[in-house]
Amino acid sequence: MKILVLGPGAREHAIVLALLAESADHEIVCAPGNAGIAASGVETPELAYTDPHAVAAFVAERGFDLVVVGPEAPLVAGVADPLRAAGVPVFGPDAAAAQLEGSKAFAKRIMDEANVPTGRAERVAGVEDAGRVLDEFGAPYVVKADGLAAGKGVLVTSDRDAALEHVATWAPHGDVLIEEFLDGQEVSLFFFADGHDVVALTPAQDYKRIFDGDEGPNTGGMGAYSPLPWVADDFVEEITRTVALPTVRQLEAEGTPFVGLLYCGLIVTATGVRVIEFNARFGDPETQVVLARLESPLSRYLLAAATGELPAQPAPEFSEQPAVIVVVASEGYPGEVVTGRALTGLDEAAAVPGVHLVHAATKRDAEGGWIATGGRVLGVVARGDSFAAARERAYEAVALIGLEGGQHRTDIAARVA
Ligand code: AMP
Ligand code: GLY
Repeated sequence: MKILVLGPGAREHAIVLALLAESADHEIVCAPGNAGIAASGVETPELAYTDPHAVAAFVAERGFDLVVVGPEAPLVAGVADPLRAAGVPVFGPDAAAAQLEGSKAFAKRIMDEANVPTGRAERVAGVEDAGRVLDEFGAPYVVKADGLAAGKGVLVTSDRDAALEHVATWAPHGDVLIEEFLDGQEVSLFFFADGHDVVALTPAQDYKRIFDGDEGPNTGGMGAYSPLPWVADDFVEEITRTVALPTVRQLEAEGTPFVGLLYCGLIVTATGVRVIEFNARFGDPETQVVLARLESPLSRYLLAAATGELPAQPAPEFSEQPAVIVVVASEGYPGEVVTGRALTGLDEAAAVPGVHLVHAATKRDAEGGWIATGGRVLGVVARGDSFAAARERAYEAVALIGLEGGQHRTDIAARVA
C-alpha cells in the first residue's frame, strides 16, 4: 500500500516503524515527519499538516491508499473531513467526532448519554461559581479547561487558591470543568474504531509527571510500559463493553461516526474503572510500547477501520514480551526548554539488544551529528523476557545518550519489575 502518515513526533515514528516491520512492502511517506523518521528511510516532505486544504491538495496530487492522522491538532482542525469526502480511506475521525478529545464538555455529554462510567463533573462560569463547586467536591481538586491545551489544561491540586487561579486563567478561553478526584492507577487502552465496531489493542501505563515518584508538573508523558500485569483478566473485555463500544455507538447514533483510534484514559478506582479522558488518536508515548508488542500487521487494522471492515479481521496478536519506553527530555521541560544542544551516543544506544529509538524532536547538524530541538527529544524503547530485563536494557541505552541538561525518569516500570 501507499500510506501517508501525518505528524511530526515520536508517535508517528512508532507508527512508521510498525508499518516498515510488516512483510508487505509498503510505500510510506510521513509528513512532515522528523529527522529520526527520515533516518529510518522514509520520505518526509514538508507539509502544513494541520491545514485541511494543504493536506487535501497533497493527497490529491500524490495519491494514497490510506492516510493515517497522528496528532489531535489536525483532527480537530478537520484534516480528515475533505479526504473522507473525496473517498480516500482515512484513519482518524472527522472534526465532529474529534470533539471527543477537543472538548471535555462534549466528551462528558457523550459519556452521560451512553452511560459510560466517569467522574462527576460540573461546568463553572467563573471564579465565584468555582469556589462553590470546589467546596462541594472537596480536595484534592481537579480543574480542566474544555479545549485542547497541549497538556496544560488540567490541574490536580489540594491548594484551593491554585485551583481558583487555574479557573481564572482558563475561563476567558472557554468552558472550565471541575471534576471529582479519582484515586487509583491509570491505564491507557486503545481501540481501533470503524464508526460502528471496535477492536482493542493492549493496555499500557503512562508516566505523566516530570519527576520520579510522580512528582512535579504534568508533561506529555515521560515513559510507559505494556502489558499491565496487575489488571484483571477480563479488563479489556470489560472496557470494550462498558466504555469503547457504547461511546462509538453513541457517536454513530448522533450522526458523527468515530473512525480512527479511540484512546480511553482510565483510572482503576476501588469502586470500579472510570474514564478520565478520551483522545481521538494514538497516545504518546504509550503507542511506542503497544506497537512494539504488536505482532499482527498494523496496516490491516488501520485500513479496515478506515473502510468500515473491522469485524472481518482476526484479533490482533501481541508479544508476551514486555516493552518499556523511557523518554529523554531537554533541560527545562515541561517549562521553558533549552534547545539546540548536541545529542550523542544514539548509535551505541540503539545497538543495545532489544532496544530501538523513536525520535520526537531532533535534527542533524552539518557533520551528520544530532541536535535536540524540543522538549521531549526521543524515546528509548526496550523489550525483554521480563520487565526487569526490558528496564535494564532501556536504562543501559539511556546511559549511553549524551545531552547536556537532559532529563529522564529513573522509575519507569519499576512498580512491575
Ligand atoms: P487529562 O488531560 O484529562 O488526561 O488529565 C491529565 C492528568 O490529570 C491525568 O493523566 C491524571 O493523572 C490527572 N487527572 C485527570 N482527571 C483526574 C481526576 N478526575 N482525578 C484524578 N486525577 C485526574
Ligand atoms: N500520553 C498521553 C497522551 O498521549 O495524551
